Amino acid sequence: MANITFSSPSMARDVTVYAVAGDRGTVLAIAKANKIPIPFDCQDGECGSCLIEVKHLDPLARHAIALTEKEKEMLKQLGKITKKEIVDAEVNDMPPRHRLACQCFVRHEDILVSFEGDKSLP
Ligand code: FES
Repeated sequence: MANITFSSPSMARDVTVYAVAGDRGTVLAIAKANKIPIPFDCQDGECGSCLIEVKHLDPLARHAIALTEKEKEMLKQLGKITKKEIVDAEVNDMPPRHRLACQCFVRHEDILVSFEGDKSLP
């Protein structure tokens, strides 16, 4: 069970959606199912268009994450992950601030997802 709140300058207001327990979808899949306009292209962690910022709303939630090499490399290329965040992810299982929506699986935890999106949309 997780409430995912999407926030973007390209949306008139924030939208919170409820992800069903056991639903192992990615943030991008849930966004698409709810018509949230997160930009995307490859859907395979290789283009970087689905960059999002993820805030974990429960500071006590377990943060263990699986950051794949592919996602790490792309975040590095985009300049959106620091050396410290890489160490935190690898050693302490702490999630970095930025993720790729197509590689980020929703877990039993409330999160706030921000993205730039296309500001020209209403
Ligand atoms: Fe290409 Fe996510 S859509 S990296």
